[in-house]
Amino acid sequence: MIKNKLGIDNPIELAKEEERITKIKARQLFETKKLDTFEVGTFSGLAQIHKYLFEDVYDFAGKIRTENISKSNFRFASVMYLEEALRKIDEMPQSNFDEIIEKYVEMNIAHPFREGNGRSTRIWLDMILKKEIGMVVDWNEIDKQDYLLAMERSPIKNTEIKLLLERALTDKIDDREVYMKGIDASYNYEGYNLYKTEDLES
Ligand SMILES: Nc1ncnc2c1ncn2[C@@H]1O[C@H](COP(=O)(O)OP(=O)(O)OP(=O)(O)O)[C@@H](O)[C@H]1O
Ligand SMILES: [Mg+2]
Repeated sequence: MIKNKLGIDNPIELAKEEERITKIKARQLFETKKLDTFEVGTFSGLAQIHKYLFEDVYDFAGKIRTENISKSNFRFASVMYLEEALRKIDEMPQSNFDEIIEKYVEMNIAHPFREGNGRSTRIWLDMILKKEIGMVVDWNEIDKQDYLLAMERSPIKNTEIKLLLERALTDKIDDREVYMKGIDASYNYEGYNLYKTEDLES
């Protein structure tokens, strides 16, 4: 159970309330055009997104995690090397679709925050795609389970996630519904994100 600012100590209630609040924040981020002022394709830009979405819920909003974490036996970047990994990701090119997805996959492996990486990094990805190739992902077109399986596979082989995302590209880059679908926390299987983030001794 993650410490939160809402004073909630039930994980299911926290997940619901967190989802509700971050969706309101995501909508504001879009409608006020604040998102357009954030840096595109860097950790600093991702941290701005994460901070905005989660600042009412977690103290660690926008901050690099201090614990090692894993999901389904995959260990995300070790805290010890995280900052170095993020500096390298900042330098990665993003001039075409393949490069952008490779960068996205590396950012997912880094998983810089204690919670909320999926949602903030999908917005970050869409910002890069929009700026560099004038397209975004229509998350309505992607089956949640296919996405998660492709993401689980992506550190080893990125062809599945590339295919999945490429098929769902759209030029509706300023469509609010397309944008909002990407931050669906229920992008998890039912209850998926509640217990599988396991803390490891560092
Ligand atoms: N086993 C895994 N290996 C690699 N990446 C994974 C694995 N499981 C999940 N992911 C990625 O991590 C994201 C979830 O991270 P996290 O729980 O920090 O973010 P979230 O915003 O709460 O979740 P979600 O994106 O599922 O709504 C998933 O969206 C997926 O991209
Ligand atoms: Mg989660």
